[in-house]
Amino acid sequence: MPDITYISPDGTSTTLEARLGDSVMEVAVKHGVEGIVAECGGACSCATCHVYVDEAFTDRVGGAGDLEDDMLDGAAAERLPNSRLSCQIKMRDELDGLLVRIAPEQL
Ligand code: FES
Repeated sequence: MPDITYISPDGTSTTLEARLGDSVMEVAVKHGVEGIVAECGGACSCATCHVYVDEAFTDRVGGAGDLEDDMLDGAAAERLPNSRLSCQIKMRDELDGLLVRIAPEQL
């Protein structure tokens, strides 16, 4: 099972195992990782699951789709080139070791 490491805004690091197909948001919420609010439950309609994907993984993770792109424009924290909504990143084997930084504000 692939691992995901979450870095909180305060620097806390949490590494969790993900099931294939789970989203980066779902794994965080299931394990109580703070900072990912996920108000809409993964419907790509709230932008409260904003993360910054580590540069080592941006190519493998890929870019945002059109709807996600629109939602990221309204995210509470600054949008960066590596911004993604974590509910839209589904875990697969090649993302093992994925590192994401949780955006400092979600609401
Ligand atoms: S959980 Fe709402 S956009 Fe990701």
